[in-house]
Parts: sequence; C-alpha cells; structure tokens
Amino acid sequence: MSTQATVLNPSSGEMLAGLLRPNPTEADYAITKVEGEIPRELNGTLYRNGPCQKVLPQGGAGAMHLFDGDALVHAIRFEDGRAHHLSRYARTDSFEVTEREGSYCFGGLNLPAEGAPQDPMGNVQPNTNIVSHGGRLFALVESAPPFEMDPSTLASKGSWNLDGKMLGLSTTAHPKIDRRTGQMLLHGYQPLEPYLQLYVIESDGTVSLAEAIDAPWPSMMHDFAITENYVIFPLGSVYFDFEPYLAGQGFSAAVTAKPELNMKFGVRRREPGSPTKWIDVDSAGYMFHPGNAYEKDGRIVMDACKYESAQGLLDDIAVVRRGECSGGLIAKPYLYEIDPDAGTCVETKLSDMGAEFPRLDDRLVGYENRFGYAASAEPAEGTEGFFRRITKYDRQNGCSVHRAEVPGQWVGEPVFVARNTDAAEDDGFVLNLVYDAPTDRTAVDVLDARAIDTDPLARLWLEERVALGFHGNFAPSK
Ligand SMILES: [Fe+2]
Repeated sequence: MSTQATVLNPSSGEMLAGLLRPNPTEADYAITKVEGEIPRELNGTLYRNGPCQKVLPQGGAGAMHLFDGDALVHAIRFEDGRAHHLSRYARTDSFEVTEREGSYCFGGLNLPAEGAPQDPMGNVQPNTNIVSHGGRLFALVESAPPFEMDPSTLASKGSWNLDGKMLGLSTTAHPKIDRRTGQMLLHGYQPLEPYLQLYVIESDGTVSLAEAIDAPWPSMMHDFAITENYVIFPLGSVYFDFEPYLAGQGFSAAVTAKPELNMKFGVRRREPGSPTKWIDVDSAGYMFHPGNAYEKDGRIVMDACKYESAQGLLDDIAVVRRGECSGGLIAKPYLYEIDPDAGTCVETKLSDMGAEFPRLDDRLVGYENRFGYAASAEPAEGTEGFFRRITKYDRQNGCSVHRAEVPGQWVGEPVFVARNTDAAEDDGFVLNLVYDAPTDRTAVDVLDARAIDTDPLARLWLEERVALGFHGNFAPSK
C-alpha cells in the first residue's frame, strides 16, 4: 500500500480534484493509528461507497463525470474499542471485463469507450450507496438494479432483479427503510415509460409491491421521501431525453435543465394501487436529497437540500473532477409543507448556508424528528464545491451547531449511530470521513452527536486516501 503523500496546491483546484481522485487500493487491516478513544458502545460496521475507477480513461480521472467510476465499497468495523478497515470492489460483469481488458472499454457518462467498444448501458458501477436490509447488503446506483455483496467479506454476489418484479431498467441508490414496519421502499426512474416505479420490500426480502407511476415528464430523480402513510417523489426542473445518450452524445446532452418547469412533488399513499397527485412547487430547481419527511396535523413536512439552479448543478457535476467548480454544487436547506388533500405546497428557504448529504437518526425516517446532520459550507466557500464541516440542526429551536472546519480538510456525509437501541434521538455518535489534503490521507471521525462542535471522540487514520465517495450507512452488530 502506497504511503507517498501528495502535497496539493489549494489555489488551483488540485485539492478538490485530489479529494475525488481514485485510489484503487483494496484494504484489509486493523486500524492502529487512532487519536482519542473509540467508544466501546460503538459496535458494528460503517459501510461506505463511492466511485473509484480502477482502469482510468486515457484522459485520466479528470476526464470522468462525477458519477463515473467503479464501486469501491468500504467496511469500517468497530468492535469493543478497536476498528478494522476492509474494502472490496463490486465485481460486476463490466468491472471484470474492464479489469481483464485493461482499457476503459465501456465508456463513461460523457466519454466514449476505448479499445473494444461496448454498449455504454452495459457499464454497471453501483457506486452511490450501500444499504443493509434483511441481512443482505446492496451496493446501489440509479442506473442499474441492486448489486448484492456479502456483509462480512464484501464478496460480490451479483445483481438482484427484485425476484423478477422490476418494472424498469434500474432502481435508485436511496431506499427508505421504515424501522417500524421493517419495510424498505425503493423507487426507480428512467427516460422511457413508465418514468417512475415504486417497490416495497419486506424485511424477509419479499417484494410485496411493484407499481409503475405516471409522471409529468421524464427526469433524473435521485432520491425520494416517505412518511408513515405517504411517498413523496421530488420532480426537478430537469428533463431526461434518452435519444442523445443512445446516439453517443453523452449524459450531459441527455439530461438538461428546464427552468421553465417548476418543481413538482408526486404524493401518493403507500397502499397498493394508490393514485399519485402531482403538486406544484412555486419555483424551479433540483434536489438530490430530501432530509426527512413526516406527517403533522394532516400535512406533510419535508426538508431538503435544493439547488436553486439546475443548470449550474449539471454544469458543475460534469467538470468537478477537474477541480473546475463554479458554485453550482452548493445546495441550500429548504422546508416544504405539503397539504396532500388540498394539493398545495409552501416552500421556505431555511438558510443561505450550503448543505448536502442530510441525515438523521435512521430510526425516525418517515416520522417526526428533531435533529438532523449535514455536510455544510458557508456561501463564500461556494466556488469550490463540496464541504468542509459538519452541521447539526435542531428543528425545535431552529438553531444549528457546526463542527469547525480545519484548513485543508474536507468532510463527507455524516452518519448518525444511536448509542443503543433505546437511546434518545441525539444520544450517540456521528461518523464521517475526513480527507486531509496536506497528508493525502483519509480519517474516520467519531463525533459525540451531542457535542459535534468539540474535538472528535476518536479520529481513526486510514493507511490510504479514500476517494470521497457519496453515501454510507451503519449496521449495528447483532
Ligand atoms: Fe445521493
């Protein structure tokens, strides 16, 4: 394993590019460099996923779209005050062909294939999220079906087609697990009819609902939300036309911003056969991630990180790997109050502070929560994209607390872990990966969720840099 540190120039975009630069190293080692003390109550595995292209295109990593890259899945195992790092690639068929050929032979979202041309849709890279449900572990991306991996060894087990019940080409990377029912709700979207699909997977793995849903236009719908009784589909001001992609013009030609299309929320009850009501939002924009949604006094309350310019977002995700980011990657926290009966929606901007990767206590997904966590950035930092600090939000009194940024360090999605199954809402830990540009290393921070503005309880230095990646989840030990 390389120990060569790379000093990056903070003024040239190299730091941002370095944050995302692939490091195709599969790890399997006990973590020995620990600052502070790992809490002994923290027992289980932090799974993380992100793009980490093993065989680079001729133009290097900077030529790739933000969403391109083989899925390198990480498992940071905590047990009785110690930790271990395991990482393994999701070995899809296209990964194995690429590895064998040694060339970028499937192409990327905006890149043609090199060497032996292949169907661009055949490049399966489940690099966006990694989710446990019913004892199974799934690596997820919104352009392919779930890809199953072994929860212990991370050995690849193959794609799962929802027991033959898939109604579209793919499912998304953001299932919602209702901890009260044990159900996992999952949606799919595509540029062909049916534009949307909804699935319910019971805790024993049974697919109990698979329904196609009409939508006003085909769009990129990265995530969705649930409440106790409803599903909410956020339709952004983005139009997805497959023809340019199939004609070889690339993803950026196929997915275009249309600011004349205001956003809409598709709201339907969770019961089978329920109709979907499309409710207008009085503004354009796009959201990758709702935070949480819940019902209160007959309304749906939902917070979300909204990009006010869908075009700015699309422009930046195409070039961010080169460190060229104009600020389009900074979303702002918004609150939506939806009346599902009247078909109305009130939008409120909560802050000008940039925020993304919103998380909460997973026990409360779909139910009223008080606290939330996100990666955040001051508006002045907006030209760089990505995030330097963690913020905790308190819905009850409207305040937020920040884990102070450290020069040269970048943070990823914060994952809350309850201290135990009966712990109060914010009684636990916030885990997040930190990239330290001066040493070109990644660390895992364990923060006290009730004091995230103080030093971490523990900082675990990994032996290598982990490309920042997107999402992760914690699976407690049995
Ligand atoms: Fe996401």
